[in-house]
Amino acid sequence: MCGIVAYLGDKEAYPILINGLRRLEYRGYDSAGVALMNGDVLTIHKCQGKVSDLESHVVGKSLSGSIGIGHTRWATHGPPNDVNAHPHRSTSGDLALIHNGIIENYASIKEELGHRGHIFQSDTDTEVLVHLIDDIQRTEKVDLAEAVRLALASVVGAYAIVVLDSKEPDLMVAARKSSPLVIGIGEGEFFCASDATPIVEHTKNVVYLEDGEIAVIDRTNGLKIRNVKNQEKTPFIQELEMHLETLEKGGYDHFMLKEINEQPRSIRDSMRGRLNLAKGEVVLGGIKDYEQKFVNAKRILIVGCGTSWHAGMVGEYLFEEFARIPVEVEYASEFRYRNPIVNENDLVIAISQSGETADTLAAIELAKNRGATIIGICNVVGSSIARVTHAGSYTHAGPEIGVASTKAFTAQVTVLTLMALMVGQKKGVLSGSNFYRLLNELDAIPEKVQKVLATEAQIKYIADIYKDATNALYLGRGYSFPVALEGALKLKEISYIHAEGYPAAEMKHGPIALIDEEMPVFVIATKGASYEKVVSNIQEVKARKGKIIAIVTQGDSVVRELADHVIEIPETPDALVPLLSVIPFQLISYHIAVMRGCNVDQPRNLAKSVTVE
Ligand code: AGP
Ligand code: GLU
Repeated sequence: MCGIVAYLGDKEAYPILINGLRRLEYRGYDSAGVALMNGDVLTIHKCQGKVSDLESHVVGKSLSGSIGIGHTRWATHGPPNDVNAHPHRSTSGDLALIHNGIIENYASIKEELGHRGHIFQSDTDTEVLVHLIDDIQRTEKVDLAEAVRLALASVVGAYAIVVLDSKEPDLMVAARKSSPLVIGIGEGEFFCASDATPIVEHTKNVVYLEDGEIAVIDRTNGLKIRNVKNQEKTPFIQELEMHLETLEKGGYDHFMLKEINEQPRSIRDSMRGRLNLAKGEVVLGGIKDYEQKFVNAKRILIVGCGTSWHAGMVGEYLFEEFARIPVEVEYASEFRYRNPIVNENDLVIAISQSGETADTLAAIELAKNRGATIIGICNVVGSSIARVTHAGSYTHAGPEIGVASTKAFTAQVTVLTLMALMVGQKKGVLSGSNFYRLLNELDAIPEKVQKVLATEAQIKYIADIYKDATNALYLGRGYSFPVALEGALKLKEISYIHAEGYPAAEMKHGPIALIDEEMPVFVIATKGASYEKVVSNIQEVKARKGKIIAIVTQGDSVVRELADHVIEIPETPDALVPLLSVIPFQLISYHIAVMRGCNVDQPRNLAKSVTVE
């Protein structure tokens, strides 16, 4: 995690860096810092807290310099405090470095450097790297770029770094391995950042640095890329498709609320050009060459983390129902560490909003090394996962800034639905009329989402009643079980209320013991395959005086009689219910968190992009 940004050009670097850090703050907000090069004077300002704290911290201080680096931290090694904040400096004071990732062998390097007289100020793994580069410069008598290359050859772990050296004041050196780094190329100016959000307002021309590559950016010679083996690489310049407005709050109090409300559009965008009602077909351009692989697949593995894993669970139900292919859904972090059985016959779908989640990336590498075909479902265009997969479909939900994932989930589920329907039809296991009916139903979802959003006032009222709860239970069956998990995750991550998601029937095997008159129980009880069973589960909760907040199909009167509150959603086939039923859960978590005074967009201890294992 953490966000890094750097600038080299003719302008003052500080305003560009601060603006960039604000955009990257979703990645980490434990501390923030900048280093500025003014002539050959290198100054560092850094402090614990958010980017706004850094802004207060630098008031009245010298901020000149047209080269600079900035960092917003998500602590892995050492507590969030002023000293552990980046940039870190070498003992000589010449070098300043920012880092995203973990240097796994930092302890042994630190010990060795300690014997050689290096004195460390912080608890971070990062500081070891800046000392190592400094040490190599001195002992090997090499320039900064070569010292970085040699240092990285002896480092184990994940990194995206940018280094400045006051002895070479017109240059910056950046490198990456397993952590993202994008380089922006403007008119006589260059940018580096963890993602394109700080760059887009300055230039649309970017180069995504590959693993093991080092970029040397020099005022005179521009950008040169080489790899750790010292082979020169030709930069591949791409055009960014991101738009600046998508990175702003657009009048909403929080990004999360904006993103919840964007879902009618983002779901439509996930289907655009793919669902063709006139022709009665689904075309997923990105996986066109892999259609037969899907059709012939004996098994599909889905890997992801958090919300993406929940979307994967919906995918399991979809592929099994419509394409009749057995599916296993795996937490990427479990999959990668348990010697899984995976081979060239397997099709692996990797789901990730950010496209940077370290465990998901590692799970992909493992499956790829064993010959499996990897299909990605990512939101961030050009992200690491999008690039290492064999093929894939972007979700096109637009940038998701709120740490709690909302529109990314519905976009992932939309893409999985399109995939499952397409494969079912191509395999001939989904009848033409059923296929066509489902396409029509899917096409109608954005308008139905709009209707669910219109229940916000009622949801806010319910939120006010339960905002002081200490626990909550979320129940659902079938397609609604993953949504129950997702509802519970949303509540706990932004409001810090303990919440559990359960398959409704499983409740009686344990969680029922928790139910009393204090316990809000959120139940998805829409008309469909397991409606009667869920109604019985609601009876069981009511018999123990639990409070029921039920999501029901429009016009339902049975559950209305039993429940304390009902939220109606439009009728849709079971398979599409997750796209509607998750919306009230997102809104209820949002409003409860706001009422509890929590920082909705930046919940404690979390970060948007989990690039550490
Ligand atoms: C969701 O609200 C979470 N913040 C988190 O679980 C997230 O879904 C998870 O970290 C996976 O991220 P990814 O989709 O970017 O891989
Ligand atoms: N490992 C570094 C630290 O703890 C960087 C963490 C990050 O990527 O934010 O400071």
